[in-house]
Amino acid sequence: MSDSPPDATAIPGSPVAMATAPAEVAASLAEEHAVLRQAVQARAEEVVRSAEAGTWPAAELTELVNYLQLEVLRQIADEEWLLFRNARAAADELAALRRDHLELRLGIDRLTEAATARAAFTPAQLAVATRDLLDQIDAHLRAEEAQLSAAGEETASTAKLGSQPHEWYALTEGSNIDLDQLPGPAGADAVLDRLLRLRPGEHVVVSSSTDPSPLWRRLSYANPGGYGMASVRSAPPPWEIEIVKRPPQAPLVAQPG
Ligand SMILES: [Fe+2]
Repeated sequence: MSDSPPDATAIPGSPVAMATAPAEVAASLAEEHAVLRQAVQARAEEVVRSAEAGTWPAAELTELVNYLQLEVLRQIADEEWLLFRNARAAADELAALRRDHLELRLGIDRLTEAATARAAFTPAQLAVATRDLLDQIDAHLRAEEAQLSAAGEETASTAKLGSQPHEWYALTEGSNIDLDQLPGPAGADAVLDRLLRLRPGEHVVVSSSTDPSPLWRRLSYANPGGYGMASVRSAPPPWEIEIVKRPPQAPLVAQPG
């Protein structure tokens, strides 16, 4: 097992790397694909580097699978729903893209299995599976961009059509979340989703120039008693609250009389 977590600053889209990044969102599918391609590649290379050295990259693989599950699988579903319905590409070309998506889902399943059933893979097998998935993703993105572009027109990104921007991954997955960078109801929903994914004992600090208590109320409603909250800073703004996911309570066991 790898002793150290991946270098966050080396991963584009990581919380550290995004600290000074602009909040702009990809407008075209090609730009959106570039964000995905770069983020997956950086995480995959961390996995392959350790695996090819013969060590099991537990932390790196967890981060890669987290990104694949949250961002790449969502992209696949959004493309089929938001883009393919109105695409002018031929039916057989769209069918080929859907088959690509199915293959990508299987490749992601394989890495997810590696992350959750460690004994089923050697580091060498993990390196091969990761490289294969990278090649699959790259080939698919190229084919999709070519087939969905009609007569030189730029294909809109799924984010432009209402999907959650992939740029928000870095803004929500770290230990500090700035609500001001995640605008509107969609931003609040993205933060709530992240809080609902916290592991027991994990905590994050949420900062905001406006009162974040509505977010806390939604979280408490979604999981009553499941979270603790401490106010780190209130007026004057910015507000800062620390939220922690409580460990599950031990089941009550009847004591012998
Ligand atoms: Fe796709």
